[in-house]
Amino acid sequence: MKKILILNGPNLNLLGTREPVQYGHTTLADVEAFCQAHGKQIGYEVECFQSNWEGALLDKIHEYGRLYKAGEALGIVFNPGAFTHTSIALHDAIKGVEPLPVIECHISNVHAREEFRHHSWVSPAAAGIVVGFGVDGYLVAIDGLVRKFVNSAARKA
Ligand code: DQA
Repeated sequence: MKKILILNGPNLNLLGTREPVQYGHTTLADVEAFCQAHGKQIGYEVECFQSNWEGALLDKIHEYGRLYKAGEALGIVFNPGAFTHTSIALHDAIKGVEPLPVIECHISNVHAREEFRHHSWVSPAAAGIVVGFGVDGYLVAIDGLVRKFVNSAARKA
């Protein structure tokens, strides 16, 4: 069973209590549980990892680059939190493990918020972007990953 990684960056461990107007009341544990249940239904093992440390996120992306090469991973759904707007290192890590697909996912619609959230260093390296669907966006991103990199590849074959 191939793996999909749900990767969450800084402050997303506070989901459920953090700015509920922006991010809702669902906890990260709930998000991880429904992603894992959904993955199981569609035939993938969903691993979940959250860190407030940029280097730990980089290491996890590198690890999945190796798993992808070995044919053991499909891709990553990544909410980089505020590192989205600051981290060239995350951009470089995603480029560095190409063609491993990374879907960038934001709970809130970052484009309807402060201007400093409008720019993403991750987007130019991402295989797709899901923005503004609330925590359901993680499921949209999983399905998008499978539709783009499994189903459409099968249709072309
Ligand atoms: C976020 C949006 C970012 O701007 C913010 O820093 C976050 C969460 C989102 O999911 O909407 O931490 O990535």
